[in-house]
Amino acid sequence: MHTDRRPGAPTVRAVREHGDPALAPILARALAHAGAEPRATHGWHTYPAGLHPDAAADLLAAFPGHVHDPFCGGGTVLVEARLAGRTASGTDLSPIACLVANARTAQPALASPMRAAARRLAEAARQRVEVEVPEECVRWYEPHVAQELGRLRDGIRAVEDAAVRDLLWALLSSIVIKASYRQSDTKNVREPHHRPPGTTAILFHKKARELGRMLEELPEGPSPRLRRADARDVGPPPGTRLVVTSPPYPGVYDYLPMQQLRYAWLGITPGREMAAELGSRREFRSKGRAEALQRWRKDNAAWIATQARGLEKGGYFAVVVGDGLVGDRLVDALQPTSLAMEEAGLVVRARASADRPDHAREAIRIEHLVLGWKPD
Ligand SMILES: C[S@@+](CC[C@H](N)C(=O)[O-])C[C@H]1O[C@@H](n2cnc3c(N)ncnc32)[C@H](O)[C@@H]1O
Repeated sequence: MHTDRRPGAPTVRAVREHGDPALAPILARALAHAGAEPRATHGWHTYPAGLHPDAAADLLAAFPGHVHDPFCGGGTVLVEARLAGRTASGTDLSPIACLVANARTAQPALASPMRAAARRLAEAARQRVEVEVPEECVRWYEPHVAQELGRLRDGIRAVEDAAVRDLLWALLSSIVIKASYRQSDTKNVREPHHRPPGTTAILFHKKARELGRMLEELPEGPSPRLRRADARDVGPPPGTRLVVTSPPYPGVYDYLPMQQLRYAWLGITPGREMAAELGSRREFRSKGRAEALQRWRKDNAAWIATQARGLEKGGYFAVVVGDGLVGDRLVDALQPTSLAMEEAGLVVRARASADRPDHAREAIRIEHLVLGWKPD
């Protein structure tokens, strides 16, 4: 599922349409996008399981009004809303998701002070002043790399302007995996390699210049309203005409724990959030399939009910869901999602479904884009 939607994903094979003949082709087209789409700020910070930017763009073009993404992740829908001049809002349980989505949709005016601060911090990080390194990070970095990251962290803490400071935290977050021995965001495998001294600070500054350039190319317009929240509890703001989202697929990822290196460097302690993560892989492993599935169905119904309640009458509700994978068995997400939408008072108007080969796990999993409508 999600991995397949990353830029560079294999082309979707068969896309099937169901329901309203005017709406289903829009969904089919949105679901069929694959391959790299490096525009705007999308590629600037990795975030697992991103929606394809063109899918978000298609849905925004087809359905008007304020858009809300309750599982906004790295902010794909929110960036597309900014590009389309639309007002938008989003929530996510993950503090890293909120940090990334905020940086990707920040105002162009912040680019210059952010760059200046990053240049200063990068210079200071190359001075040999011994700093404290979080214990859980030690084995993941060459000692001089950890020292450079620690100096950057200490420098960021001292920045007074909160908006600039948030962008600097996002910059640090964008390099902590690349500078580490960890294979990738989603692969917790240690792969030692050498980084020459000074290059981590240089990378930080490079990422600042890159983000600055991207932000300066974003159109004028309001930044989305972002909030760290549980989608089961916090719905869209009044006036929302469109929900576009892609919730976690059951048993596929552990979104919150996979960010542990970032938490350590950024001084974040995700406490209660860990337990509130929907459909996590660890829950399926620890509780077993039947019990975890039951909880996922309940949680799925809860977030759908909360979001549908806040949607304006006549508004649309587009959800990308896919088969989960527990062990080597698929978990159907479509039926419980469609049912929960109907129970929440939405009319399921159309759907598109596509086969996505999951090469990593040698499986074909089906992904669906389901469109609900709230009756007037
Ligand atoms: C598939 S990702 C969303 C990716 C996003 N569409 C993008 O393009 O970047 C699912 C997200 O759901 C978030 N999440 C998990 N449980 C949640 C909950 N109870 N409330 C809100 N967000 C949650 C995870 O942190 C993760 O960012």
